[in-house]
Amino acid sequence: MRVKDRVAIITGSGRGIGAATAGRLAEEGAKVVVTDIRADACEATAAAIKASGGEAIAVPCNITERQSVEEMVQKAVDTFGRLDILVNNAGVIRDNLVHKMTDEDWDTVMNVHLKGSFYASQAAQRYMVPQRYGKIVNLSSTSALGNRGQLNYATAKAGLQGFTRTLAIELGKFNINVNAIAPGFIETDMTKATAERVGSDFEAFKRAAAERSLLGRTGKPIDIANAVLFLVSEESSFITGQVLYVRGGI
Ligand SMILES: NC(=O)c1ccc[n+]([C@@H]2O[C@H](COP(=O)([O-])OP(=O)(O)OC[C@H]3O[C@@H](n4cnc5c(N)ncnc54)[C@H](O)[C@@H]3O)[C@@H](O)[C@H]2O)c1
Repeated sequence: MRVKDRVAIITGSGRGIGAATAGRLAEEGAKVVVTDIRADACEATAAAIKASGGEAIAVPCNITERQSVEEMVQKAVDTFGRLDILVNNAGVIRDNLVHKMTDEDWDTVMNVHLKGSFYASQAAQRYMVPQRYGKIVNLSSTSALGNRGQLNYATAKAGLQGFTRTLAIELGKFNINVNAIAPGFIETDMTKATAERVGSDFEAFKRAAAERSLLGRTGKPIDIANAVLFLVSEESSFITGQVLYVRGGI
């Protein structure tokens, strides 16, 4: 029960890494707000948590719309009375080589990752600052280091690293820890979509990623959920402004 009675919002938790993180935090005693642009997916994640004995509510929200985000955060606080943890996980890819990348590809990725994390963090800190307690974890990516076909995504994920450090500087004195996790290849619908884009069979795509990893395997959503759990638990209370690469390698 490493996060017992802590109230946690996990954006984009309708599936993938977000859903695994919501489930993991709930297992460790958190009251979880499952939020995603897809209402049916939110309901499914929240229902699965409740079926396993956890506490969760589903609050659909489009992370790129300020009002939608503020209403979602308000709903979290109205339901559970406080807010302790925010995981900025919602994400999209619109991969294209630079000469083919459209304004829509660029703006969608920037808005979901950067504007979405800004809106959610700004709304969350209004509750975290007065209570002098908070944990924010942002999902960056190894793509921040550069990745062919992901000019928009790599830029957004590198941006989230600067966002993390700056938010840590501003919020540290209020006992709010802000860190980022940069996953490598994790088996989700997102990486399945990437395999399709490059015309590769998903199994072959996973094998190739596993061969590039030092540990000889690809990641699963639970690998990231466990790292998030560490960064929102008391065990990491002296860690802030850091980027933790969770990629089975250097
Ligand atoms: N899968 C990987 O290998 C990998 C690697 C590095 C980083 N990441 C990052 O981890 C996070 C989760 O990735 P995933 O693989 O689970 O992806 P996913 O596509 O399976 O899940 C992302 C979720 O975000 C939601 N979402 C998208 N736009 C939204 C919006 N406007 N408002 C609210 N919710 C929205 C989607 O509906 C979806 O449920 C993302 O930020 C992603 O960039 C993933």
